Parts: sequence; structure tokens; C-alpha cells
Amino acid sequence: NGHQPTSGPQFGATGLQPQDQPTDQTLTTRQGHPLTHNQNVRTVGSRGPTTLENYPFLEKISHFDRERIPERVVHARGAGAHGVFEAYGTVGDEPVANYTRAKLFQEKGKQTPVFVRFSTVIHGGHSPETLRDPRGFAVKFYTEDGNWDLVGNNLKVFFIRDAMKFPDLVHAFKPDPVTNRQDGHRIFDFISNTPEAMHMITFLFSPWGIPANYRQMQGSGVNTYKWVNEAGEAVLVKYHWEPLQGIRNLTQPEAEKIQAKNFNHATQDLYDAIEAGNFPEWELMVQIMSDDEHAELDFDPLDDTKLWPQDQFPWLPVGKMTLNKNPENYFHEVEQVAFGTGVLVDGLDFSDDKMLQGRTFSYSDTQRYRVGTNYLQLPINAPKKHVATNQRDGQMAYRVDTAPGQNPHVNYEPSSMNGLKEAPKTYPDHKPYIAGNLMRQPIERTNNFKQAGERYRSFEDWERDDLINNLVDALSGAQQDVQNRMIELFTQCDEDYGRRVREGLQQMSSSTNGQVNVQAGHEAAEQAEKQSHEA
Ligand code: HEM
Repeated sequence: NGHQPTSGPQFGATGLQPQDQPTDQTLTTRQGHPLTHNQNVRTVGSRGPTTLENYPFLEKISHFDRERIPERVVHARGAGAHGVFEAYGTVGDEPVANYTRAKLFQEKGKQTPVFVRFSTVIHGGHSPETLRDPRGFAVKFYTEDGNWDLVGNNLKVFFIRDAMKFPDLVHAFKPDPVTNRQDGHRIFDFISNTPEAMHMITFLFSPWGIPANYRQMQGSGVNTYKWVNEAGEAVLVKYHWEPLQGIRNLTQPEAEKIQAKNFNHATQDLYDAIEAGNFPEWELMVQIMSDDEHAELDFDPLDDTKLWPQDQFPWLPVGKMTLNKNPENYFHEVEQVAFGTGVLVDGLDFSDDKMLQGRTFSYSDTQRYRVGTNYLQLPINAPKKHVATNQRDGQMAYRVDTAPGQNPHVNYEPSSMNGLKEAPKTYPDHKPYIAGNLMRQPIERTNNFKQAGERYRSFEDWERDDLINNLVDALSGAQQDVQNRMIELFTQCDEDYGRRVREGLQQMSSSTNGQVNVQAGHEAAEQAEKQSHEA
């Protein structure tokens, strides 16, 4: 975009000096016109009305008027970085090829470039990064077979197990449509009628709901995928990222101290670490299960509110990711990057996980609206390999995805006039047999409380204390019937869990003569914390 003057102004007659010549640094309009007046609009007389034919002003201001694209409906606040994924070639003690033919995993030491975006979920593009929220952990692998996106979170389970419920879940957590404030009463009104959320809620209201930063948190694909080998045989897999920096979470008071001074602390931490050459690393682990219903388990392997117990399904390392380069431009890379669960490469496949299938429609749908029809032509989203399609035109199309020598008249297939050809079929397809009535049914093995109770008991004392305080605090704004339903659900997870939330709420209500409010919630929670420490 450097301006190259071809026939510059004449010297002498105009009195112009060589330093007045336009250079590469000269400000221009987007049309390439050197911009000689960037301080004042054009007016009739020095105080007169502004004229409307002033193209440089109109171009500048109307581009400014369009600087924002719609932010992500969820996960609007994020930070990103480039890096590399290095394969181990094995999964546990076995060659990875026994389970998947995906090329990026095959040879030990094989490197694949990646771009990662971390995020918070509920609030807008510049909301505090200290808020209690799952953290997004989305990775785009630019593989030789095209892109693979692993769109995960830090927490390993989710609130719901059916995609139909996602917009309701998000509405309950987003600000109230009237007051425009997030509201514990609305959240727990929904959650108290959604018992499958108890496992996630137990994680979220504990310190695990506020990771200290993006470098010291885990990641997880959450949903169940498949791996397919060269014979076309499949297994179920879950993915997890383990930070080599260790894991660090914050209590609510610790988070509040940071938030008082810095609401960008996680973005800053990631950027500064990478600038300083302190490159964060994660090991990618998988859990593998045979591809069937597993009637012997007390949960359904396709239920994303459940963990696959590690003693039965060990975490097996398959590679390591290092983030080593900051974005050059936040908007181009971090804002416009588009991840989706449908973006898989050969050797990876979908399971019948109902959440995964619902998600897979949603991502590319929203991105065609948020970024634009041709979002896959942007450098951050385009594969780093040859792309050849017969897709043409649409808003902001600026390139034809063609092959060298392709007949430019042929944008269809099949053709005998030198058009694009279907790819050769290298391996047998994975062809699961599916038969059944078409229906709308919940997952049968609900088991909503067992793992939530195990989680509660697995926490250290300080984590459990923080969990209870945070729940009492958040529930203090809820009406009695919602509080009662929640206490009942906590009790089903673990009696001690229900008892402590009930006592915390009772204590708060007696200290405020039955008038429950958020501030009182804080105070009672602090008091409860002191008492539980003393105990
Ligand atoms: C972002 C939908 C569940 C992780 C998004 C976006 C949508 C969406 C529409 C915005 C995408 C964009 O504008 O580029 C859904 C639906 C879900 C669901 C419909 C359930 C049916 C989940 C789950 C996870 C997750 C279970 C965790 C495994 C993410 C992440 C992002 C995201 C990490 C941000 C990606 C980025 O950084 O650009 N989701 N989501 N979502 N979602 Fe989901």
C-alpha cells in the first residue's frame, strides 16, 4: 500500500522542495490520493458550513463508522497467539496410527503451525478478565490436509447435554434484558431447573471458575469425537490440554484485588510472557474408549456433563504445543479468527454427541454473519496449503480459489474442460451403522449428581470454602423457591454440600432480617469463610 509517485509535482515554478515529495510514509486515502489536509474539514470560509463533496473526510469517517464487526455472541473477550504443535508419533505406548490416520499426529517431531484464542464467555469485548466464567481454549491447526479446529474450554465438562438448550443457557447467564445486569436470580432460576448442570456449577463456583491467567489453565475439547485409522475403524476420543506451567486458580477475593487495578490481566500476561521469550506450553492428551454405548458405565460416553474417569480411561500424551509469537494485529488475527467444531481433517470424525452436532452448525453459521461470507479467505482462517474450490463471489471476495492451469471458465464439477477434479479416495470411509426411530429424547443415563458430589469431595478445603462462599453470594439475590431448589440439588450431590449452602444462606438472611441482597451476601460469605477457617 506504499504510494509510488509516478509524475510528481514540478519544482521551480511551484516552489516545491524535494522534502515535499510524497514518500512511502505519506498519508493517503484508500484510493491512493496523497492526503494534504488531515486536520481540517473543508468549509465555506473559515467558519462556514462544511461541504459534502469532501471525499477524504467522507472516506475517513465512513470507514471509522464501520470499524467494528458484530462481536461473538459468546466468548467475545479474548486473547490469541501463534505457535507450533509437535507430535510424539505415539499414544501412550502404541503407535498413534493404530487409532488415527490423521497426518499431523503420525511422526515423532512432526510440526504443525497453530493459532490459539483464549476467551471468557458471557460478557462483552472489553469486560474484565477476572470474571467467574468458563475460559475458551480454541486451537486452529494448519495441517497439510487442511485446517483442524479443536474448540474447547478450560473446564472439562459443560452445563447441558443437548444443543437445543444452549440459547436458553446463554440467555440466563447474560445480562437481564431489562436491567442489563447479570443476575444471580435469573441464573439460578434456570440452573435449579437444569439438574445436569450441577457438575459444571460445582467447578464454576470453585476457584476453577477463575483461572489465574490463560497460561496456567488446562483445556479440554469437552465433547466426544472419534479417531479413525487406515482400516476405517473408529474409537471415541476426548482431548485435554495440560499446561506445563502448572495450574493456578484464584479465589474470589484474589480476583477482586486484581480486577480493582487491571481488567486486562490475562491478555497482558500472555502477551508479555511471549514477548519475553517465556513461551507457554501444553501437552495434548487423549482418552480413548471403544466406539459403543458402554452399558457397563453409569453415564453415557456421549454426555458432556461427565468426565471419563482417569483410572479407567487414562490420559495419553500425543504431542506438545508451544505458543511463541504474538499477533501482529489484534483485529485481523484475534477478532476475525473463526473456529468451528466442524473443521476436522481426515482421520478425525464426529461422534453422535448431540452437543457436538449442534455446535457444528452454529459456528460457521455465526461466522458467515459475524465476519462475512468469504471469512475463509482471510489469512488467519485460510489453510496454509493449496485451496481449490468452485465457490465464487459474495461480499468481499477478492480471490478465486483456483488451481494453477485451471480453466477460468469452469467453476463447476464434473467437467471435461480442465476443471477441478474430486480428490482420490485413499482410505476406506468410517461407516457406522445407524438405525432407529426418529425422536426427541433426553440421554437416558442422566446420573446428574454423582460426579458433582465426587468433585465437591475432591476439592481441597480452601477450594470448598471458596465454592460455598461464592454460591451463597450468588444465590443471595435469588428468591426463596429458587434457593430451596438449589439447596435440594446440592444435597443430592453431597449432604455436606447442601448443608453448607443452606447454612450460609440462613446466616445471611438472619443478619439482614430476612432481606437478602448481594452486599449482604458478600458479608455473610466472608463471615462463613472466617468460621470455616476457624473450624
Ligand atoms: C464460541 C455456539 C458449546 C467453546 C461460540 C460461538 C458460538 C458458539 C455461536 C461464537 C463463534 C464465533 O463468533 O466465531 C455454541 C453452541 C454450543 C456451544 C451452539 C452448544 C450447543 C460450547 C462448548 C464449548 C464451547 C461445549 C467448549 C468445549 C467455545 C469457544 C468459543 C465458542 C472456545 C470461542 C472460539 C473463539 O475463540 O473464537 N460458541 N457453543 N462452546 N465456543 Fe461455543
